[in-house]
Amino acid sequence: MNPVEIIVKKRDGGELTAQEIAAFINGYTQGSIPDYQAAAWAMAVYFQGMSDAETTALTLAMAASGDQLDLHDAVAPGTRIVDKHSSGGVGDKTTLAVAPIVAACGLPVGKMSGRGLSFTGGTIDKLESIPGWNPDLSEEQFRRQLHDIGLVVAGQTSNLAPADKALYALRDVTGTVPSLPLIAGSIMSKKLAAGADAIVLDVKCGRGAFMETLEQARALSRLMVAIGSRAGRNVTALITQMEQPLGRAVGHALEVQEAIATLQGHGPADFQELVETVASEMLILGQAAAELEEAQALVRKAIAENTALVKLQAFVVAQGGDGSVVEHPEKLPSAPVIKQVVAPKAGYVQRILAREIGLTCVDLGGGRRKKGDPIDHRVGILVEAKVGARVGVGDVLCVVHARDEVDAERALARIGGAYQIGDKPATPLPVILDRVQFGGD
Ligand code: URA
Repeated sequence: MNPVEIIVKKRDGGELTAQEIAAFINGYTQGSIPDYQAAAWAMAVYFQGMSDAETTALTLAMAASGDQLDLHDAVAPGTRIVDKHSSGGVGDKTTLAVAPIVAACGLPVGKMSGRGLSFTGGTIDKLESIPGWNPDLSEEQFRRQLHDIGLVVAGQTSNLAPADKALYALRDVTGTVPSLPLIAGSIMSKKLAAGADAIVLDVKCGRGAFMETLEQARALSRLMVAIGSRAGRNVTALITQMEQPLGRAVGHALEVQEAIATLQGHGPADFQELVETVASEMLILGQAAAELEEAQALVRKAIAENTALVKLQAFVVAQGGDGSVVEHPEKLPSAPVIKQVVAPKAGYVQRILAREIGLTCVDLGGGRRKKGDPIDHRVGILVEAKVGARVGVGDVLCVVHARDEVDAERALARIGGAYQIGDKPATPLPVILDRVQFGGD
């Protein structure tokens, strides 16, 4: 099959067959189709979209591009393997808190996570701010750790959905991330290949997410829930707030610190609510709790009794990290220059452009401009005044953590422009916007 014909067909709005999609994906994964043709194809998909049949074919081709795991032999008989995935947001450190909570409640979590994409951060990059922590586990190590401590978060192994691994990095640097079929295929191919029986999807919605409107987020959620159902998996999608950054911290080490604080019971209210909701949904899908109240009680107990924090520490140590950061988060790398963004006038915070905050973090060195760029784990932003907050002149809106004065000054100006302060009281933003399950509308 000639890749140029496939690119041209999609460029001109044609519907690709499952065979054409599989041939293109296999060719790209095996290296016979180069990056520049895959980039052209991704851009054609970005502009022309895909039918549901094409998106399903794309997902299945990417899931089948490498190993397909079955983790049941690494957990107690009858245990359901439950996974979670976020479509990506700013300050989204949810996995760092949810995974230890769920594992502490007795439901094993063996998760493969990704790196940052565009203006959003990635779980693996965040965890790498813990000295020594290693995301690269063999399948054997992954299974053993899941069996022994019930919690593993690893980088996508090179042979799990390798097509997605390659395409994900390519999309990040070719402006082709915010495409509904490409996002759905990317997320669901990894989840299908990783062998989850059930999946909680955290679909971010707002100007700090790839899905900016509720309508788009619902469309993505329904698409992913339907793909999961066709593949025999039980999927619940939560549509969650991303008009403003999640919690306070944006930036790798800062986010790890915030996740630890949340497991100690003093995280920011919006983050705490999201963590409790996602963890509860996972416990329900994993049949570790029969209904919401029971699941919430288990989650709160894991925090109150410190079992989630202890689980986090065991997991960090098992993957070669310095476990003492869990008790002493000040040991995490920190930036040399810290500056405040202050309110230029009194009023109520009406809006914070989350994407601008995310891009500022990238600009500070916390993200990548091209494939494989190193990132600076120390830098980031603490958002002190969220939407709805009442501020006086000179009150702190954000705190910038930068590697030098020049970067810090640039960040201050950019963050100032991301804030809108007005006279009218503004309502704090809700955290959970909707919930989509198969068969629902
Ligand atoms: N998360 C993914 O795994 N893939 C995407 O394309 C976007 C977010």
